Amino acid sequence: MIESKKVKKVLYGGDYNPEQWPEDIWQEDMRLFKLAHIDVVTISVFSWAKLQPSEDTYDFSQLDKIMALVKENNLSVCLATATAAHPAWMARKYPDILRVEHNGMKRAFGSRHNSCPNSPTYRKYSVALAAKIAERYKDYENIVSWHVSNEYGGECYCENCQKAFRVWLKNRYKTIDELNRVWNTAFWSHTMYDFDDVVVPDLRSEEFHWERMRTNFQGISLDYKRFISYSLQECYRLEKAELKRITPDMPVTTNLMGFYKPLDYQSWAEDMDFISWDNYPAVGAGKEDAAMTHDMMRGLKQGKAFCLMEQTPGVSNWHIYCSLKRPGVMRLWSYQAIAHGSDTVMFFQMRRSIGACEKFHSGVIEHVGTENTRIFREVTALGKELDLIGSAFLGARTKAEVAIVFDWENWWAVELSAGPSKLINYHSEVMTYYRAFAKQNISVDMVSVKDDLLSYKLVVAPLLYMCKDGFDEKIRAYVKNGGVFVTSYFSGIVEDHDLVVTGGYPGRLRDILGIWVEECDAIPEGMGNSFSYGNKKRSATIMCDLLHLEGAKALSTYEEDFYVGMPALTLNEFGNGKAYYVATRSDEEFYDDFLGGICNELMIQSVQKAPLNVEATLRENENGQFLFLLNHGEDAETVVLERGGTDLISGKKYEAPDSAVMEKKDVIILKLS
Ligand code: GLA
Ligand code: ZN
Repeated sequence: MIESKKVKKVLYGGDYNPEQWPEDIWQEDMRLFKLAHIDVVTISVFSWAKLQPSEDTYDFSQLDKIMALVKENNLSVCLATATAAHPAWMARKYPDILRVEHNGMKRAFGSRHNSCPNSPTYRKYSVALAAKIAERYKDYENIVSWHVSNEYGGECYCENCQKAFRVWLKNRYKTIDELNRVWNTAFWSHTMYDFDDVVVPDLRSEEFHWERMRTNFQGISLDYKRFISYSLQECYRLEKAELKRITPDMPVTTNLMGFYKPLDYQSWAEDMDFISWDNYPAVGAGKEDAAMTHDMMRGLKQGKAFCLMEQTPGVSNWHIYCSLKRPGVMRLWSYQAIAHGSDTVMFFQMRRSIGACEKFHSGVIEHVGTENTRIFREVTALGKELDLIGSAFLGARTKAEVAIVFDWENWWAVELSAGPSKLINYHSEVMTYYRAFAKQNISVDMVSVKDDLLSYKLVVAPLLYMCKDGFDEKIRAYVKNGGVFVTSYFSGIVEDHDLVVTGGYPGRLRDILGIWVEECDAIPEGMGNSFSYGNKKRSATIMCDLLHLEGAKALSTYEEDFYVGMPALTLNEFGNGKAYYVATRSDEEFYDDFLGGICNELMIQSVQKAPLNVEATLRENENGQFLFLLNHGEDAETVVLERGGTDLISGKKYEAPDSAVMEKKDVIILKLS
């Protein structure tokens, strides 16, 4: 939708479910939407049961009315294919559509996102419905995007999936010998004689431990994760193909969920015309958590603007304690999404439902049904601002000199491994590095191992346990060419199949880093070693790699235990560049100092110096440069501006070095002069 030529401003609206309401309410909705400056609605996300009441009957009468209503009211539409929850008749008649859980339990009808991705029934009818919807509504000029299904996710271990898994493996590995090699099946007598010997790695097979995180056979479980992600992606692709056949120019998306571990979004992105995602920060999450997720979503399509498809206007229903979004926070977080590359602000839900689990989830229109609520007033105020801002920064991009590598398959692999520590957490390791840049308002691109690295001054790949075929080559070329590379403990251990690269850790990265890691010591929670950096003692936790120098120099060494004096932080001059190895996990201040030092050396500048609570980002398009300042704190803050410009929201003009005083939760968007 953000692609669509029809879009001239930040689209503002969200999930609208009039099918849950009597028709006399609809007119009132339209009145209230107008008041709140709403201009887009996502329709028909969960209406399969209404649209196809039986196998042979389709009934679009209600959707026709809804589509006519929103058109009359000049609302743009993001039209969903309605395939995220199957109808009851389908479950009754075709049980193959029901998923089987990891513990072997066959699901009954209920819940949502409940269809087996390899069910022939699901594939047939979901694709058929998508095609019918596209045929019927293709000439509605107010449609700005197709929205396929909704938040794909979950997994299935049924017979259909098992069959399809065998086919997928055969395509991937061709021979049973190759399968046995990549899964290392000589271990525990797992030799497969035929692809039909393969069973799904559920609880009955490769028994997980540590809260279901781990498996006995990483190779099998890793491939199953790949397979499930692929299977769901295939469902998306099949619907998309029909939509494109009927409306080749209409953008197609599905709403993602940020760092959702089960789906390899870096692969999904290749099939999406634009990225859209749903932002529901965990209670207590810091401003950097959402920032990194937005940057990841932007990175999925190499920096292209994305769409904030959902956020709650106020409260969510599914946290353990559903605290209210404090006054100003919805606005602040909406602008935070924009500041990191979003070109829309959208909510779930437009009107708060009265029954089932989302009745305690905010809506733009709350249960009282009027405009006299705090939520509605805040939504309206933001709506006015977005009207005012217009198209200024649409499509604008962020230029970053720092890249952080994130790889979904590495995430699966490192956390499937039995050992060496249950504290190993890929997302939090990456976050640790990201935070150091974010605190200084240094722009970061979150990149995949497939992306080009050469344009970056600094590439950071924390916990790169799985160094995939060819990625070491990319890093080697990058560093030789003058790039600076940073990686951390437990990296370079395995190749693509989770087979250890023998001949010394960190495997394929060994020559680039100029080190040999001989052993890895897991540090239990609450315990730790230490090292010194910049005349300060730093903690060493989670893991301490015991390494030898092979050309690198030690910047610091461990201070305790039998490996006292062994390197904890190293630097290798390689070609024209440098490669750092952080052999352990340290404290926040260490990363601030260490990465801050590297940035100084490389003259990587912050977007704008600001107090810690104030986030600053920069987007740029043909209209100019836009500096976003967001005060996340509880107090007023002052920013001494390094460049002048005009605030798109207040109209106020600033010249450098004017001081901009920001009230708590306030936002300034400076179009730089
Ligand atoms: C998700 C879904 C919505 C709704 C919200 C509630 O994002 O896509 O349908 O359930 O969560 O937070
Ligand atoms: Zn299945």
